[in-house]
Amino acid sequence: MRDVTLVQIFDHPITQKYVKRSGMAHAIACAYHAFKLSKQYGVNPDLAAKAALLHDIGHYTWYRNGKWDYSLYKENDIHAIKGAERAHKLLIRLGEHPKAAKEIALAVLLHTDSYLPQGELHLKPLQKVVHLADEADEEPSGGHHYRKIDDQKARSSLAMLDELINEYLNKEDLKELNSSS
Ligand SMILES: [Fe+2]
Ligand SMILES: [Fe+2]
Repeated sequence: MRDVTLVQIFDHPITQKYVKRSGMAHAIACAYHAFKLSKQYGVNPDLAAKAALLHDIGHYTWYRNGKWDYSLYKENDIHAIKGAERAHKLLIRLGEHPKAAKEIALAVLLHTDSYLPQGELHLKPLQKVVHLADEADEEPSGGHHYRKIDDQKARSSLAMLDELINEYLNKEDLKELNSSS
């Protein structure tokens, strides 16, 4: 059983404010990619889809003289750090299990290494899935952040993804039941 659905996350005002800022269409596309990749990597699709939906929730806008300043952004961006905290708070408020909320927050924190000092990061499979899902939907010059989707379509695609996740988890439960009997 899942404690929180993607539609519940979508409906929350915090998601509406901050995920829309960085692009709802990108977030939803990533959630679908994460769902597909989660099977390949053997990770929980519920956690992967939630982390992917929320991965850019920490974005701040970097404007100088009314124009987006990419160098200012590059230098000062901490959207993954901010996003991990914001996603965690939101999930706990919605009633997510603290263990799941922590896993999701960590995957948000590590979805990019652009803010980290040079070095090798060893990602866990869930973190890798969210990173790959983000990359799979990237467009040159950050175009993915500006793609639009209307609210109704966004909500119904997430409801559909909720169904796919439920179906998948139910099947896994059945498999487990059969193998233990
Ligand atoms: Fe990001
Ligand atoms: Fe992203």
